[in-house]
Amino acid sequence: MSLKQNVLKVLEENKGQSISGNKLAKELSVTRTSIWKAINSLRNDGYIIDAVTNKGYCLVPYNKIVSAESIYPFLLGKAKNFHIDYQDKVTSTNLLAKELALNGAKEGTIIIANEQTNGKGRLGRSFYSPANSGVYLSIILRPNLNIEDTLLITTSIAVAVAKAIDDVASVNTGIKWVNDIFIKDKKVCGILTEGAINFENGGLNYAIVGIGINLFESDFPEDIKNIAGSVFGIQDKEQTSSITSKLIAKVLNNIGDAMDSLHDRTYLDEYRKKSILIGKEIKILNNKNIEYGKAIGIDDNAGLLVEDTNGTIITLSSGEVSVRLA
Ligand code: BTN
Repeated sequence: MSLKQNVLKVLEENKGQSISGNKLAKELSVTRTSIWKAINSLRNDGYIIDAVTNKGYCLVPYNKIVSAESIYPFLLGKAKNFHIDYQDKVTSTNLLAKELALNGAKEGTIIIANEQTNGKGRLGRSFYSPANSGVYLSIILRPNLNIEDTLLITTSIAVAVAKAIDDVASVNTGIKWVNDIFIKDKKVCGILTEGAINFENGGLNYAIVGIGINLFESDFPEDIKNIAGSVFGIQDKEQTSSITSKLIAKVLNNIGDAMDSLHDRTYLDEYRKKSILIGKEIKILNNKNIEYGKAIGIDDNAGLLVEDTNGTIITLSSGEVSVRLA
């Protein structure tokens, strides 16, 4: 971490309170001049830092810039050991995370971006990722799972993210199998899990879980206009970085916890409760084939149980299938 990042970390941890240049210098083992330079550089980046005589520097609570340092103070439990790289603009956080995973990055390495120019969705689609409107994050996981159990990762993370949105935005999200998160009838979040198989033991080398959350209303393109929604609605111009930082941290805290309940599958009860397809007539798109049926449940492997038009129960367990309300 650079000195500037370290200074920002301490200021974020003490947001709204003054901390003297002397104390900062001592804590970070540098001179007061270096602190002064770091503060000026942060101000040039847009941070509003008050300097109060005899008190020191204060990062004002109404700052709007989200950064790794604004998220760290809210991390709890296992997530405290996660490492966040926050970037302004990237092609796709999943692509960058994959490169890191291939180079041995450890579980809990996270890339977050304010904007993606080539955001990837499921089934080869793109994911609309404009600046200042959403959270686009990818986390590297290395769970000890067999390849046939990988649906557990996606579904447990869907619960983790849905609960984080519920808590921070005081809403009641629903999950559309496999991993789309809805508020009322609008999709506010999509999850794309990609991974690499270890051919020697039939397990996973790594999984990249990419999460895209629409935070604020934006000019959604024509093809998703009717289905896309946002967690917070129209952005309040005075909105500070805190709400976004808290939501991201809550997502990460819940993911940390979710990794512990992956094998015992206890999260599946919550997944079932939040499933919006159960009891509904659905349309299943499998490559070019279209079938109809009724969703009747979620099995213990997170597969979707469907009664087809002949009354036969089938289980959908493939990420290659797309399901819509009929
Ligand atoms: C979907 O709804 O089809 C899944 C969308 C997943 C989008 C996220 S945004 C962060 C990560 N990086 C990507 O390129 N995609 C995922």
